[in-house]
Amino acid sequence: MNKIFAGFLVVLFLMATMSACFSDRKNENLSTDNEVLVLSDSIVNVYREQGRFIAKSSFQALSSQLTGAIQTGGISYAVSFCNIEAVPIIDSMTAAFNADIKRVSEKNRNPDNSPDAFEEMLLDLFDQNLKNSGKANDTVLLDLNNKLVYAAPIHIAPQCLQCHGLIGADISDENNSIIKKLYPDDKATGYVSGDLRGIWRIRFESIEK
Ligand code: HEC
Repeated sequence: MNKIFAGFLVVLFLMATMSACFSDRKNENLSTDNEVLVLSDSIVNVYREQGRFIAKSSFQALSSQLTGAIQTGGISYAVSFCNIEAVPIIDSMTAAFNADIKRVSEKNRNPDNSPDAFEEMLLDLFDQNLKNSGKANDTVLLDLNNKLVYAAPIHIAPQCLQCHGLIGADISDENNSIIKKLYPDDKATGYVSGDLRGIWRIRFESIEK
């Protein structure tokens, strides 16, 4: 099937799911001659539950290790800890769940967490939904290669500000210089509580049809 057409269908599907916020809207219309792009409600529900579980478990793994590191050596130690451990923690969750797990952000600290074109579209949609309705619901959709993806917003909470808030106010000058040393291109400061920090993008490798 023509890739551009497939991409168009995915965008259509995405807009339908995001704007309907998983109301009763059905997606039966989205099928093509030789490839079926229909996601039945039951598939969406199964993968949404699985995605929620993976995102929650990954967040818990990261935040319990981070809290431990802050207790051990304060924020400066925890930043260095994160620098070394965040990627292996996410990688181990990816292996455990057989799903490709990524935290993505436009204003990122680690440039490896930058969005690709599809993820940029997701970030824009979450952003727009937040602006329009004050809410950004998690969602299940097909990416440009017809892989099932679960996406969920990541918001800034008060405990994130010491590392992602305002420099000089939330982030001490000392900690800021440690962050800058480890991440010279850091863009992940200046956030306030409630801001959209990024998204979880969980791509399922094999789809049970
Ligand atoms: C102790 C400092 C610290 C705290 C507290 C902290 N972070 Fe981070 N955060 C980091 C570091 C360092 C990285 C880069 C990790 C890497 O190298 O992959 C990061 C990366 C991220 C990323 C991946 C995207 C990017 O910018 O690279 C997200 C999303 C994120 N943090 C969200 C949060 C949220 C939400 C909270 C609060 C619940 C939080 N962080 C608390 C230090 C912190």
